[in-house]
Amino acid sequence: MTQAKWPGSCLVVGAVLLLWTSLTGASTDREKLLNEPGVYGTFAAFTLDEEWAKEDQATRIAHVTVLRAVVEQHRQKVAIDLYLMRGLSDHADVMFRIHAADLRETQKFLVDLQNSLFGKHLKTAGIMHGLTKKANYVPGFPDQMKADLKAPSESGPFAIVIPIRKNADWWALEQEKRAAMMQEHTAAALPYHKTVKRKLYHSTGLDDIDFLTYFETSKLEDFHSLILSLEKVKEFQYTRRFGHPTLLGTAVSLEQIMETLAQ
Ligand code: HEM
Repeated sequence: MTQAKWPGSCLVVGAVLLLWTSLTGASTDREKLLNEPGVYGTFAAFTLDEEWAKEDQATRIAHVTVLRAVVEQHRQKVAIDLYLMRGLSDHADVMFRIHAADLRETQKFLVDLQNSLFGKHLKTAGIMHGLTKKANYVPGFPDQMKADLKAPSESGPFAIVIPIRKNADWWALEQEKRAAMMQEHTAAALPYHKTVKRKLYHSTGLDDIDFLTYFETSKLEDFHSLILSLEKVKEFQYTRRFGHPTLLGTAVSLEQIMETLAQ
């Protein structure tokens, strides 16, 4: 009896260990991809074609199951976040944020997605790329400001993406002058640091923009006030493009988006 039990227990322990390793392995990579510099961030927004609405529910369910399979297949290599844009944005119905150490992995995911049964219904609304980098100006900021920036920010259901391009005058300025203006930018923005979580991607050369700015918040009124405050600082005058598009949606789980799209 005892002998017969052991192989079974070993199998169970083995399976649990395997699951644990794969789960922690996946989350470690995700943490790294989301927090480290030198990572590519891609925002890919899509609309669903007219045929989608005409499919019966069983077909829609089968197709969103394919979406899950494609996401599962790639998530060891790339970190994938999903957003529901439908109802809040006229630019897109769904958006994927993909982080990868190698942009080719992002491409593989998006090609597989678009070639899938689900992907055949997707029309690309826009794809934008950026790269995470170490802070340029923060190291020279006063200690108090650096400490304030380290305080955690609350995220929220709303996600906003704003592409930004600065003009040639900005890039021609000496680092010191740019640093002083970024300090002013930070001082104006810090009152909103608690309720608005931010992430910056550098896009010069990778896209027709210089920066991709990404925010999460539950307080859209704070976000609105934050933008008004930033528009008053000198640095803003060097902005050549702000938004176009500004993308607003809600961060959702794979299950939530599958449920919404299948309906
Ligand atoms: C929670 C509020 C915010 C805080 C605390 C904040 C803080 C900062 C800091 C510290 C930097 C400098 C990063 C570095 O050293 O390289 C920065 C850069 C930047 N921020 Fe903000 N920011 C906020 C909101 C925003 C918003 C709402 C926008 C525009 C939609 C924005 C656009 C940018 C851009 C484009 C840069 C890069 C500028 C450059 O390198 O020329 N920020 N921000």
